[in-house]
Parts: sequence; structure tokens; C-alpha cells
Amino acid sequence: MRSWLFIPGDSEKKLGKVDGTGADAVILDLEDAVLPEAKPRARALVHDVLAARPRGQRAAPLWVRINPLASALALDDLVAVMPGQPDGIMVPKISSPWDLVALNHYLEVLEVAHGLTRGSVPLVPVLTETAESLFSMGELRSIGDRLRGVTWGAEDLAVDLGAMRNRDETGAWTFTYQLARSLTLAAAATCEAQAIETVYTDFRNTEGLRGYCERARRDGFTGMLAIHPAQVEVINDAFTPTADEVDWARRVVALFERSDGAGAVQMDGAMLDIPHLKQARRLLQLAGE
Ligand code: COA
Ligand code: MG
Repeated sequence: MRSWLFIPGDSEKKLGKVDGTGADAVILDLEDAVLPEAKPRARALVHDVLAARPRGQRAAPLWVRINPLASALALDDLVAVMPGQPDGIMVPKISSPWDLVALNHYLEVLEVAHGLTRGSVPLVPVLTETAESLFSMGELRSIGDRLRGVTWGAEDLAVDLGAMRNRDETGAWTFTYQLARSLTLAAAATCEAQAIETVYTDFRNTEGLRGYCERARRDGFTGMLAIHPAQVEVINDAFTPTADEVDWARRVVALFERSDGAGAVQMDGAMLDIPHLKQARRLLQLAGE
């Protein structure tokens, strides 16, 4: 899933666009896009959006971002939305992977209560929004099959650290946030979960978004969060392997198939070995081959 579009859970107008966004996944938000006094209304609206569209018959998978587990709100969120059978749950501001152990148990009970197969609602945690979370990401693997992807956040981390800014004069992430981003990539690879790049908030800046997506893809992310419908097409395009890349990957795979078991071959005057073959296979998989 390349593009994951947030829709604020309290906005009837924006929720009305849920079926036509073109996003690979939609995230109905109950957290930071919804003020505290609007949470109960948002829960009811999000439930109704889900219930009106049975799972499996939705234009795009419908995920819900709940409030942090450390808040008193998360259980109310889950109780309100699980009857609507969401396609997945995004959980923000985790402090360690052990938060997800508790969440796994809550979900098991709610799945049984609402006629879903146990373990069938996947998770995407936002990994880096608390300082504490940076220390234990390597343990995430123990969460098991529920973990579909991982993403990261820089704004809440800056707040937790007491930082004045998280970007330098050129607009690039400063070191701490680059570290958080890299740890997210490493966690995703360790868990064989999708690495999902964080939001690009300057939503009118299409060229800026394109560059951001290209750097994300270069580094190993295979999808990205979106906040505005206009970002979806750019993201989908940027995370789709190009015809040239697919062509290269097919040639690499074909060459190794004909190589009589050689682990290193040459193509166009350059050496290729097993990592290139793995990279080629991964590209073909992303291209749906
Ligand atoms: N989902 C669905 N529809 C959206 C949307 C979204 N995330 N963002 C904008 N739209 C709709 C608007 O309602 C508007 O509809 P209209 O043409 O029928 O009036 C249209 O797209 C164009 O929107 P625009 O006027 O450019 O932006 P805006 O001022 O209405 O909204 C934001 C700007 C940033 C407030 C809005 O994009 C938004 O709410 N994004 C998500 C925020 C969020 O969920 N944050 C939490 C995660 S970080
Ligand atoms: Mg946030």
C-alpha cells in the first residue's frame, strides 16, 4: 500500500470523500486531528463510515488511528470502532513494543466479540513519537503477525525532547530525526513489516513532495502517509516502480537464471551478485510480478 491518507474523524465533509480518494488505504483519525471535546462525536462518525461499508467491499481499506494507549481514550476508541470491523488500527505515541502486547490482547477480545477472526485486524504503530520508544524498537519482532507496517513521527518527538525545531535551515531533518527515521527503517526490515514514510505537511508544494517521496523510496520506504487528497497521486506515482526499473529487474533475474549457478555475473559492463538479485526480485514484487 503506497499511499495512506488521513481523514479527520470529526469532519463529516471530509469523511464524505472516503470512497473516492484514490489512496491505497485511508486512515480515519481519532487522534491529533480531533479536539478532545469532539472525540465522542468522531468515534460515532467513524463507526458509521465503517459500518456502512462491509469489510472486503470497501473502495480502499479503512484503518483507524486511535488515541495513545497511555491516554484514557484508547479503549473507548477501540470499543466504539471495532463493531465496524476496521481493516487495521494505527496506534500513535507508543513508548515501547510492550504497549503492543497489551493492544494485541484488547483486540483479541474485541475481535471475538464482533465476529472477526482472532488476529485479523493488523497494526501499524507510529514508532518514534516518544523519546523512550527509540530505545526498544529492536524488540518489535516479538509482536508477531499483527504488525503490518511501521511509521514514524517527528513533531511529537520534538515536543517530548523539548526541541525548538526539528529541521535545519535547508528544511532537512536534523540529526535526531534522521536517526529516528533510520531506526524505523531498521525496525521495518527486522520485522518484515512495511516501512511507511511520515507526512509531508506542506501540501500545496507538489515538487517538494515529489523529492521527499523519491528520497523515501531510495532509502527503503515503500509507502507514505498523506494528509491531503492532492498528495495521493504524487505518492502513488513515486512509489510505483518505473518501467526502466522493472526492465532492469527482469533482465537481472533472467541473467541469473541463465548463469549456471554463478553467484556473480556481468551486465552492461558492471558486476552483479546476490544482493542485486534480491533487489531485483523485491522490485518485481513491488511491481506486482
Ligand atoms: N481527506 C478528505 N478530504 C479532504 C482532506 C482529507 N484529508 N483534506 C482536504 N479535503 C477536501 C476538503 O474538504 C476540500 O473539499 P471541497 O473541495 O469539497 O471543499 C478539498 O479536499 C480541498 O481541500 P483544501 O481546501 O485544499 O484544504 P482544507 O483547508 O479543506 O484542509 C487540511 C486542509 C490540512 C486541514 C486537511 O487537508 C486535513 O484535514 N488533512 C488531514 C489532517 C489530519 O488528519 N491530520 C492528522 C495526521 S498528521
Ligand atoms: Mg501526532
